[in-house]
Amino acid sequence: MIEILREGAFKMNILVTGGAGYIGSHTCLALLEAGHTVIVADNLCNSSIETIDKVKQISNKDVAFNQVDVTVEADVDSIFDNNTIDGIIHFAGLKSIGDSVEKPLAYYYNNLVSTMVLAKACQKYGIKRFVFSSSATVYGENEVPFIETMKLLPTTNPYGETKVMGERILTDIAKVNPDFSVALLRYFNPVGAHKSGLIGEAPNGIPNNLMPYVAQVAKGKLEKLRIFGNDYPTVDGTGVRDYIHVCDLAEGHVKALDHLTEGLHIYNLGTGYGTSVLQLVKAFEEANGIDVPYEIVDRRPGDIAGCYADTSKAKRDLGWTAKRDIIDMCRDAWHFEKGYQG
Ligand code: NAD
Ligand code: WQD
Repeated sequence: MIEILREGAFKMNILVTGGAGYIGSHTCLALLEAGHTVIVADNLCNSSIETIDKVKQISNKDVAFNQVDVTVEADVDSIFDNNTIDGIIHFAGLKSIGDSVEKPLAYYYNNLVSTMVLAKACQKYGIKRFVFSSSATVYGENEVPFIETMKLLPTTNPYGETKVMGERILTDIAKVNPDFSVALLRYFNPVGAHKSGLIGEAPNGIPNNLMPYVAQVAKGKLEKLRIFGNDYPTVDGTGVRDYIHVCDLAEGHVKALDHLTEGLHIYNLGTGYGTSVLQLVKAFEEANGIDVPYEIVDRRPGDIAGCYADTSKAKRDLGWTAKRDIIDMCRDAWHFEKGYQG
């Protein structure tokens, strides 16, 4: 029986691959809050089962957890054999750019085979809705703002290529299966954490990304931030990015599922404005009343000067815009880091 949740939206059972990870766990929460049922498939290669417990604790709802590698077809099939599934959000993947240069085969294998195995299961089990985690990295060094209709330019690393290829595979499948509904969601720079402070971004080792690095400097775990270059053609010479609160991003997934119609749809999920590294450091200090010592060092190879999204399509089609600003992002990132024992 179809249960109507809101105008145009009905209750669905959603398979969330990578649901124990950073963006996946926040999206599980958003799905549960929106009234959907969540089934997670994660092999915990970059996450922990405690995150699923936290999601249950915050939502006060159940989550079915399967410790499964989604590149293994028989294991994926068994999830479909044992559950009624209305749609998939496919987050599972390896995401470190540097690592992908060192271990290209592991990245191509994990990120592409998982996508193909899941797409195959969709055909076998008649699943019509597929939401894919893509990235602004697919735009390469295009003119800003990045808009969905742009011709994609080459990325500089195997990770980026797995996103370009993943998009391509799903696009080709959608072309010949007119009743298959696919959303390719291109995330800009996800940061921040759930307001409870119970789930957030907890990278292994020294963080590569700016916000977790800043948070660890604030905590005294790292001595100072190294700012990679102040000679870019930007507002203050430091790199500009479109940081988006992970909870806004999670809500974007719920909207994408609710509005998903047949065919292929591509959406940028960003705020539509850029923040420089120095502006982010200042916002963090202002939001949390803590100093973040830094030094300027050479540019990081492979970095682009600036990137931000044109978000008009998501607003028009999904009725979605990011609601949280950079101060919210810095406050919530710090709230999580303060309480994190790792
Ligand atoms: P994450 O590493 O926190 O989460 C990914 C999850 O997938 C982890 O829990 C990991 O254990 C799981 N996983 C990996 N390979 C798997 C496999 N073969 N089978 C089952 N589980 C597997 O990463 P995240 O930041 O939450 O990213 C989620 C998705 O969004 C990824 O596809 C990533 O490439 C994409 N993305 C992330 C960002 C970002 O900055 N965080 C930006 C753009 C796109
Ligand atoms: C942001 C800015 C750095 C760290 C990466 C991937 C992208 C996407 C998100 C998955 C840049 C500067 C950073 C530091 C610094 N992931 N910086 N000191 O590079 O925009 O995006 O993560 O799809 O594909 O490339 O994010 O957080 O690493 O950097 O000065 O210690 O902060 O130079 O200007 P990036 P980031």
